[in-house]
Amino acid sequence: MSFTVPHAELAHLEEQVQHALRTTDGRALDVLGYGEVTLVLRLRAGEETFACKRLPVFPDRGRFERYEKGLAEYLRRLTDSGLNVAGTELWHTRLPSGRIVAYCVQRELPPHRLCSRLLHTEDEIWAKDFFARFLDQVDRAVQPALGLDAQAANWVDVGGELMYVDVTTPLMRDARGRERLDVRLFFSSLPWILRDAVRISMSGSIFDKFYETRGVLLDFLGNLHKEQLHSLVPAFLDQANARLAEPITAEEVAAYYRADARMWELIQRLRRADRFWHKRIKRSTYPFLLPPRVDR
Ligand SMILES: Nc1ncnc2c1ncn2[C@@H]1O[C@H](COP(=O)(O)OP(=O)(O)OP(=O)(O)O)[C@@H](O)[C@H]1O
Ligand SMILES: [Mg+2]
Repeated sequence: MSFTVPHAELAHLEEQVQHALRTTDGRALDVLGYGEVTLVLRLRAGEETFACKRLPVFPDRGRFERYEKGLAEYLRRLTDSGLNVAGTELWHTRLPSGRIVAYCVQRELPPHRLCSRLLHTEDEIWAKDFFARFLDQVDRAVQPALGLDAQAANWVDVGGELMYVDVTTPLMRDARGRERLDVRLFFSSLPWILRDAVRISMSGSIFDKFYETRGVLLDFLGNLHKEQLHSLVPAFLDQANARLAEPITAEEVAAYYRADARMWELIQRLRRADRFWHKRIKRSTYPFLLPPRVDR
């Protein structure tokens, strides 16, 4: 599954991103997907196309190397648990300031095979079969120290095999249950007002759900509302509850989604305000590209 990242092309892509940041105009970029945290860009190089996920800028080599180790371990542990993880290479370059820009690079998988898309285009029989395969994968992978962000937009069905793509935020905990991720760095796209509050009060609870099957499933089901796929919730609940000691209810899914949507909407609003502050008041470059407004 390993491949060589085309260095010159990635360096060029990064120049385009820098330009987009300076002008806050991302229209020249070929965007494959907007997540809540990363921006995923398509890169063509010769015959191949890649999905390139720009990470928050690392302040120094030590922070980068820590991430590099964590990512490698996360990929290995997911693979050992039987999950099919999209082959991922970490590419980086050093800025004149000594800071490090890095991308998680994967081969581009066929966009029409993204499961959040297939759940719209295929019928309910496909959906139920997908969900059975999905439950097997989640159940095998998720552990108290190994987490998964399993929403439908993070899986691609390639020839009947589910491939997991969302690895940029390695979800692992140490023996004392603390996040091993550089949470401070990964929350650096949040406005400073939120950063401390979020880090201290929410990081535990934001992440808890990823480390137990029930939480992962609740998050998956809640996200179906965002994808306008709520009609699938009853059938999926039957399948999920057959495996859970404490069943999930439709009301719980809806309430979960409302709370989650409100939180992200607030964060995006504050980010836009923060960008405005950087550009117009401080006259400096805002270091992130923001996704467009999402209907929730
Ligand atoms: N290898 C790939 N091939 C094709 N499309 C991809 C690939 N990886 C990601 N994408 C597209 O980009 C979207 C976002 O990617 P991904 O889930 O990796 O990042 P993310 O959700 O932004 O992560 P996070 O929320 O942890 O920052 C996916 O939902 C998918 O549409
Ligand atoms: Mg994702």
